[in-house]
Amino acid sequence: MRQARLTVLLTLGMLAFTGNSTAATAPTDAIKYRKAVMSAMAAHTSAFSLINFGRVEHQDHLIAHVDALAALGTQLKVLFPAGTGTGDTDALPLIWQEPEKFGQLVTASEKSTAELRAAVAAGDKAATMKAFKAVGDSCKGCHDRYRKEDD
Ligand code: HEC
Repeated sequence: MRQARLTVLLTLGMLAFTGNSTAATAPTDAIKYRKAVMSAMAAHTSAFSLINFGRVEHQDHLIAHVDALAALGTQLKVLFPAGTGTGDTDALPLIWQEPEKFGQLVTASEKSTAELRAAVAAGDKAATMKAFKAVGDSCKGCHDRYRKEDD
């Protein structure tokens, strides 16, 4: 009896210390993580615009912001696991009701952020402007349909 209880305690202690990846992610943490990634995308988008439209200098920072945006763009597809549609979230249930349509917007965002990165890396101004517009449209397109309006 005592032995069993000790084993359970040791096991729980080990899980807490290793934070191991086989433990299921709590939905509240998955939601927090999703918002953190979204906020990071917004921050890199606005830093990019300030440089790109000449409001600040730091041309040499431009590639870092589009690198980050492209990397975060690839993460979107895993940010909406089942069970994260309730609680402290503005994500609408429609996301899980029409996964195909939602997936198309995820793909559009991943693609446009990759194109923006490529255009900046190539020093192609016209392609950069075009890709940046596509990125903005992809954020807005998804928010319009799948995110609760601010009240
Ligand atoms: C495929 C859909 C989709 C795309 C693409 C998308 N978002 Fe979001 N975004 C959401 C949803 C849904 C939420 C609400 C998340 C929540 O509250 O759990 C959100 C939330 C946010 C938030 C608020 C985060 C918070 O702390 O509450 C910001 C800022 C944001 N997005 C910025 C962006 C930017 C910038 C882009 C484009 C570069 C983008 N998003 C692309 C669906 C998307």
